[in-house]
Amino acid sequence: MLESTNQNIEGQEFSPEAVVRRFDSWAASYDEDRFGTSYGRYVHAQEEKLLRMWLAPAARGRVLSLACGTGRFMDFATHGIDASNEMAELARKKHPTKTIRVGRAEELPEQGLLFDAIFCLHLFMHLTPSLMAQILAGCAQCVPAGGRLIFDIPSARRRSLTGFRPSGWHAGNALTHPQVLDVLGARWKLRAWRGILFFPIHRVPVKLRRLLRPWDDACGATPLKQWASYLMYCAERLP
Ligand SMILES: C[S@@+](CC[C@H](N)C(=O)[O-])C[C@H]1O[C@@H](n2cnc3c(N)ncnc32)[C@H](O)[C@@H]1O
Repeated sequence: MLESTNQNIEGQEFSPEAVVRRFDSWAASYDEDRFGTSYGRYVHAQEEKLLRMWLAPAARGRVLSLACGTGRFMDFATHGIDASNEMAELARKKHPTKTIRVGRAEELPEQGLLFDAIFCLHLFMHLTPSLMAQILAGCAQCVPAGGRLIFDIPSARRRSLTGFRPSGWHAGNALTHPQVLDVLGARWKLRAWRGILFFPIHRVPVKLRRLLRPWDDACGATPLKQWASYLMYCAERLP
């Protein structure tokens, strides 16, 4: 396959294929590294609460976890797709009754499948805004009117405060809320958005973190949410 190259926000070259290779080699330790820590569990709990609420109308339908990784949220999905063989293989082992395929999010319409809802977490942060827009447009071809799309993206406002610099292997994507609305395009109507990880939890003693979570959820539902670390969105497919 021809390798496509782009620049990340630091002007460094990155390719979406290299992102997938990175996850292939990370797969075996990914769950423990990323979500086995108290920081990871905190983020997971916040995301899970929103997924449960926003997916409720599609709970009995066909739900796709796009870039499903090792299957972290496959309990909410009937289908999973991930570009990494290694990540998808782990997801299959954990969820043998679910349909999990290897495939690129950019090529989702080529799978010829229809879903009542699609969710896509922790993918767009690794890609460019134009790839993100392409994937969201592809999702619109796979969800009928009234169906749902849930996704997240790091907040560019928060990153402007913290001076965050992405490591070179991915695109380091982060957007403001108006930029997300632009990327979302005309086929989706925004239903709700929230902030995730409002508090700088890595600076808080581990024992206190759980106590902070309800306050974090609450701040993430106020206008302060644009300053949270991640923005999480729920959109509805327009007719
Ligand atoms: C940070 S992990 C997130 C996994 C899962 N969504 C979660 O939240 O636990 C990102 C995943 O995106 C997958 N990925 C990267 N580029 C992709 C692409 N172009 N299409 C589909 N999956 C991709 C990686 O293989 C990896 O499993």
